[in-house]
Amino acid sequence: MPESHLLIFPTLGAMSQAAVDLFIQAAGEAVKKRGRFLAVLSGGNTPVPFFRLLAQPANRNKLPWELMYFFWADERCVPPEHLESNYGLARLKFLAYVPIPQTNLHRIKGELPVREALKDYQKQLLSFAEPGLKWPRFDFVLLGLGADGHTASLFPGMSFGEKSADPVISAKVQYQDRPAERISLTETIFNTSRLVLFLVSGEEKAEALAATRRGKMDPSRWPAQRVRPDQGKVWWYVDASAASFLSEDTNKHEMDYMR
Ligand code: 6PG
Repeated sequence: MPESHLLIFPTLGAMSQAAVDLFIQAAGEAVKKRGRFLAVLSGGNTPVPFFRLLAQPANRNKLPWELMYFFWADERCVPPEHLESNYGLARLKFLAYVPIPQTNLHRIKGELPVREALKDYQKQLLSFAEPGLKWPRFDFVLLGLGADGHTASLFPGMSFGEKSADPVISAKVQYQDRPAERISLTETIFNTSRLVLFLVSGEEKAEALAATRRGKMDPSRWPAQRVRPDQGKVWWYVDASAASFLSEDTNKHEMDYMR
């Protein structure tokens, strides 16, 4: 069983600053132990304040940017300058304002035909591979949760098996008005990570959060249940409205109220 903790914050702002603090701590530890920090980012609305905070001098100046490498959990198949690009979002909100070498950014090339983009991303992952794996053991993986229970681009009902999946997949799923063609890492990679942080905000996520955390195991219905890094930690940072369906008898030791 992976170590998993859930913290409830009164606001998205408080949750985002706590996420930045965790990120800074993880980066410091990784660089001290292994000389570099390998992080995975997601798209969506929830991480936007987190991204913005990273670019602020008080946080930016605490990070070893030259030793930091970014990958993406998933990407919509659009060019990097497209408004729906997950890489583009991170660039717009913080990457353009921090001293990170361009060569440290390992984006999924959404502008390429899907098969080529998949191959290219597999190659980029391989060039950082942990011995015995075809991808690195990531130090920090940022994930979101959709109101339907998806995470990255692992959607309910997707047809790969319960236990194992290719490390990188393509998917065609219409969610809200976002681009349907996507490329995504799967739990095969997430589950070798050292730390996974889910950021969840808003009452429309309340049902999915409660089912993912407290419901019976049904990863086909609730794909975020697939994320269980045996040798890593999972943090759930959620705001009060997203937490509103979590039952009151939730184990106290698992839940700290941040005020
Ligand atoms: C994507 C994201 C996706 C996201 C969730 C939550 O590319 O769509 O990576 O998995 O994390 O959809 O998105 P919100 O934060 O906007 O609710």
